[in-house]
Amino acid sequence: MTQDELKTLVGQAALSYVEAGSIVGVGTGSTVDKFIDALAASGLKIAGAVSSSLRSTERMKGLGIPVLDAAEVKSLRVYIDGADEIDHAGHMIKGGGAALTREKIVADLAEQFVCIADESKLVKVLGQFPLPVEVIPMAAAQIARRFEALGAQATLRAGVVTDNSCHILDVRGLQIADPQAFEADVNQWPGVVTVGVFARNRASVCLLGTAEGVKTLKFD
Ligand code: 5RP
Repeated sequence: MTQDELKTLVGQAALSYVEAGSIVGVGTGSTVDKFIDALAASGLKIAGAVSSSLRSTERMKGLGIPVLDAAEVKSLRVYIDGADEIDHAGHMIKGGGAALTREKIVADLAEQFVCIADESKLVKVLGQFPLPVEVIPMAAAQIARRFEALGAQATLRAGVVTDNSCHILDVRGLQIADPQAFEADVNQWPGVVTVGVFARNRASVCLLGTAEGVKTLKFD
């Protein structure tokens, strides 16, 4: 099966976590696009979705899925999103699509984070994928120097302005052995909007697309 087919498989599998009449948190990316398409095609009626990006909002609205403002919603049963990497405890690197800040905001509303990913995303230690960090533009060079002091290399993602009018640094050369401590530390650096490590908001479940079908990994 191709990677695209695996993404379709897990996007479809995520429907089993969606209750009719509920409000669902929806992430961003090519795997989530498959979920959105499957939701629209299923005929399952939901009360609405809280979206993590303008990209997902446009896709859902185009398919007739109602999109609600996050400010109207106190909590969600489930948030469905992809990942760039996920480890065996459900910690993730996210932000390849530059939507990490809104993804973390919506994930934080949810009781359960359902990660949908193809098997290439499962890793032992986070850090092979360049870590996205959303930053206030004036702090980008200063934050890049802090990563360099840790032995990593941070580069500005050219031409990208996030939905929050900020910039993205992609950080290479990290081995994130303690994702919770790392996330808490980097989030304190002045000018960091969001670090793309999702440890506090880690996945509860991962639907992993494999050649043998969908594997369900549970983390708590
Ligand atoms: C966007 C994300 C995505 O979930 C992540 O990049 C995975 O994307 P894809 O499903 O296209 O592989 O974090 O900010």
